[in-house]
Amino acid sequence: MGVRLIQIAAVYFIIGVGLGMFMSMSHDFALSSVHAHVNLLGWASLGLAGVVYHLFPQAGGSTAGKIHFWLHNLGLPVMMIGLILLNSGVEGMEPVIAIGGTAVTIGIISFVYNVFAHVKSS
Ligand code: HEM
Ligand code: HEM
Repeated sequence: MGVRLIQIAAVYFIIGVGLGMFMSMSHDFALSSVHAHVNLLGWASLGLAGVVYHLFPQAGGSTAGKIHFWLHNLGLPVMMIGLILLNSGVEGMEPVIAIGGTAVTIGIISFVYNVFAHVKSS
C-alpha cells in the first residue's frame, strides 16, 4: 500500500509540475488552484501517507488505511476534474467538487485516526 501510494503520488507530481509549466508559459493562471491541489493533495499528501504506511506496515494494512486509500484516490480526481470544469466556465460543478472534496476529507480523517491507532514507536 505504501509503495503503491508513492507511485500514485509521483504521477500527480508530474501532472502538477506539468500544469505549472503550462501556466507559466501560457501566462494563463486560471487553473492555479488545480495546480496547487494536484501538487499538495496529490503529490505531497499522498506521498507522505505512502511513506508513513511503508514505515508502519500495521497502519498500511489496517481497515482505516484502506478507507483512506480509496476515499483519497477516488475523491481527488473527482474534485480536480470538477475544479477544472468550473474554472473553464462550466456551471453547476460545485456539488461535484464538494462530493470529491468531502470524500478526500473523510479519507484524511481516517488517515489521522490510523496514525494515532497504529503508528507507534517499537
Ligand atoms: C516546475 C514546477 C512548477 C511550476 C513551473 C509552477 C508554476 C506555478 C504558477 C505559474 C503558479 C500560479 C501563480 C499565480 O497564480 O500567480 C503556481 C501556483 C502555485 N504553485 Fe506552483 N509550480 C511548480 C511546482 C509546484 C509544486 C511542486 C508545488 C507544491 C508542492 C506548487 C505549489 C503551488 C501553489 C500552492 C500555488 C498557488 C499559490 C497561490 O495561489 O498563492 N507548485 N505555480
Ligand atoms: C479536501 C481537501 C481540501 C479542500 C476541499 C480545499 C479547498 C480549497 C479552496 C476552496 C481553496 C480556495 C481556492 C481559490 O480561492 O481559488 C483552497 C486554496 C488553497 N489550498 Fe486547499 N483544500 C483542501 C486541501 C488542501 C491541502 C491538504 C493543502 C496543503 C497541503 C491545501 C492548500 C491550499 C493552498 C496553498 C491554497 C491557496 C492556493 C490557491 O488559492 O489556489 N489545500 N483550498
